[in-house]
Amino acid sequence: MEQKNEIIEQFLERLRQSIEEGRFVKLTLSKPGGQDKDLKNIYARLIELKGEEALSFTLRYATRDIVKNHPAGEGVAMVGLWLGQDFLNGDLLTLDEDVSIQYSKKRKPRLFFRAASQAEQPPKEHNKPKQYFIEAEGNPYLPAMGITNASGNVVASGQRKFRQINKYIEIIDGLLQQHPLPAQPHIVDMGSGKGYLTFALYDHLANQLGLQPTLMGIELRQNLVDFCNTLAQKAGYDKLSFRAQDIHDYHPDRIDMLIALHACDIATDIAIAKGIQAGAQIIIVAPCCHKQIRQQMHCQTGLQAILRHGILEERQAELLTDGIRALLMESRGYRTKVFEFISTEHTAKNLMIVGLKGKADEDALAKVDSIKQDYGIDYHYLERLLEG
Ligand SMILES: C[S@@+](CC[C@H](N)C(=O)[O-])C[C@H]1O[C@@H](n2cnc3c(N)ncnc32)[C@H](O)[C@@H]1O
Repeated sequence: MEQKNEIIEQFLERLRQSIEEGRFVKLTLSKPGGQDKDLKNIYARLIELKGEEALSFTLRYATRDIVKNHPAGEGVAMVGLWLGQDFLNGDLLTLDEDVSIQYSKKRKPRLFFRAASQAEQPPKEHNKPKQYFIEAEGNPYLPAMGITNASGNVVASGQRKFRQINKYIEIIDGLLQQHPLPAQPHIVDMGSGKGYLTFALYDHLANQLGLQPTLMGIELRQNLVDFCNTLAQKAGYDKLSFRAQDIHDYHPDRIDMLIALHACDIATDIAIAKGIQAGAQIIIVAPCCHKQIRQQMHCQTGLQAILRHGILEERQAELLTDGIRALLMESRGYRTKVFEFISTEHTAKNLMIVGLKGKADEDALAKVDSIKQDYGIDYHYLERLLEG
């Protein structure tokens, strides 16, 4: 045990010295060995934070990266906690040597030294602001929505929304590269609310991608619709408009892309059905609450024993509601992706279902039936809408 600690200490000391003496290039922790199976590796670089040296760690998960910055001393201690527990491999690159620590199957560490593989250090960046898809400055809708101030800086209370909008545009941008829209696409945003995401999307499509979109936001609340229409006019977004209507009563002639973000309960199903019925090329929904299936669920399998806990039953209902949504979309000719759209640290409502028009899965309905049987579910609301 003592020898084990000595070896980690030697590695940490070399890390500490390389930082102090200005020889540090980079550090990678790999070969996950801990509980968190999603965490694939950690990459560390040196940055300047409030005038002091700090280690910036990028924690790479299967679907996202999380960056954590620590003052250098604290960062070295963090590496000591991760090594041998969460990661079984550490590679430290410095200007005069490369040092690796590797753990055997029995978690015995060994050190390896090689000649330096790197002759130069990356520039020591300041805690550089992230590059965003949406510029905080010069976008006419952001100050009106209270996200930026008059000088174009994101205000403290707007940070979360700003990150969320950017993530959303980043995702849509990626989808459009795989599945392009026509040059003059018709897009509908169902349950557009205050219009944060609707404005950002219009701006991105029209001003960054050079498309000529016609974008309609459908929203029950008249006051929000009035606010958004006035703002669209002021911003000169002439093909962006909002209508006060229940999405149930909205019957569009054409939809190329259907969006419904955080529409409550069955409003998400109504939106998906409208998109499918209009033959939308792309359907993007981020569901909100999941009441309809939960009220019906009477599990018929051994899982019943764990679903007596309310929170587990709630999560299971969410899983079933969204999983069946994806299968029903597949049965109607969509390739689907279901993923976390923004970190839970920003919002708990973070699941996104994307459908891209393709080939139908002929077995999808049989899969839905089997799941319904297992959970004693009579019907999924989307099923009814698609039958009707
Ligand atoms: C939680 S907000 C989300 C707003 C926006 N999509 C966002 O993500 O920021 C849901 C919005 O959907 C609207 N909504 C709910 N049911 C609707 C319906 N049946 N028809 C039209 N709008 C609806 C609500 O009024 C509300 O503004």
